[in-house]
Amino acid sequence: MAGLELNNIRKSYGATEVIRGVSLSVKEGEFVVLVGPSGCGKSTLLRCIAGLEPISSGSFSQDGHDVTGATPVERGVAMVFQSYALYPHMTVAENIGFGMKIAGDKPAAITTRVREIAKLLKLEELLARKPKALSGGQRQRVAIGRALARKPRLFLFDEPLSNLDASLRAEMRVELAKLHASLGNTMIYVTHDQVEGMTLADRIVVMNSGIVEQHGAPLELFNQPDNKFVASFLGQPRINFIRISGARREDADLLLSLPGGEPMRVPIDAARATSLDSLEIGIRPEDITLSTSETGLPITVDVVEQLGNETILYGHLRDAQQMVVRLTGQANFSGGDKAWFKIAAERALVFDQNGLNIGRRSAQ
Ligand SMILES: Nc1ncnc2c1ncn2[C@@H]1O[C@H](COP(=O)(O)OP(=O)(O)O)[C@@H](O)[C@H]1O
Ligand SMILES: [Mg+2]
Repeated sequence: MAGLELNNIRKSYGATEVIRGVSLSVKEGEFVVLVGPSGCGKSTLLRCIAGLEPISSGSFSQDGHDVTGATPVERGVAMVFQSYALYPHMTVAENIGFGMKIAGDKPAAITTRVREIAKLLKLEELLARKPKALSGGQRQRVAIGRALARKPRLFLFDEPLSNLDASLRAEMRVELAKLHASLGNTMIYVTHDQVEGMTLADRIVVMNSGIVEQHGAPLELFNQPDNKFVASFLGQPRINFIRISGARREDADLLLSLPGGEPMRVPIDAARATSLDSLEIGIRPEDITLSTSETGLPITVDVVEQLGNETILYGHLRDAQQMVVRLTGQANFSGGDKAWFKIAAERALVFDQNGLNIGRRSAQ
């Protein structure tokens, strides 16, 4: 089978197991993004995939062949890191062509390939410059070009944009998406930035403490997270979790009220809803709108952030639980205001006492 298979990968450093049984199939040409909080094992797993780090147990196969003991070169991987460490005394062209030179490729072949890459990455004007005369984004493009030069089968990125400022990061995100579209290489990309995951991935893999919590298409994970961890990792501002009591079943729905609010009906999955104790409702800040009448859910506003194109309200419910609301456009609020809001009940998620999503899954 084409692509890369991770079969129950485990990795320990001494007594500490850092990767605790990860299995995953990566399709040929797929852009897979590993996301998760700092320290969850993303870089370790990527280094294992690269063949830079021996694994403790499990196996890798590539195109149906076992590559568990293979070197990075045998696996055909190229890696781009957060700190791109270009050779300062070499020009852009020399940096890009260096790997080919070491591998003993002919000068004419190197020149041709460097030109191709420079065109692809819009570095043509910069080929004679040294790294110190480049901006951060240009340097990162050179680092990517250097990785591309030897036509890797598998492209691995470890937080390649985290040293760049926000606007450059956004620009480079788009460049990377275009690069993947034009090259069609298999790419595995590590980031702690959920926005990069959402925008770049064909598939997001959410990691937590060395395991995979869930993987799937970005919107699938956003709309139908398996658990609270995944729900809270994707989306900014973060999803609200509201504890409720007194919920009851009616047919395939849950009837409940948020503190101080009117009753609402949320679809649940009867097979998964084994207990209605200690439920929490997950509501994304953008699924809350201002009510046109004094009905719905009363919220007292504590802090207002006016971003121009949207307004973020940080407030609390009648029982003091925190609630974040994201309104599109500009809304005239200040701290201490009380207002009524409507909740999009069909978008609400329900989590049981173990943090598992027991909401009903609709077809995407
Ligand atoms: N060479 C190493 N020796 C011992 N522990 C390590 C080593 N590399 C990583 N770790 C530990 O493994 C865990 C995962 O690290 P890492 O893969 O870098 O996480 P992430 O990239 O998700 O931030 C951390 O607790 C880290 O301290
Ligand atoms: Mg890391």
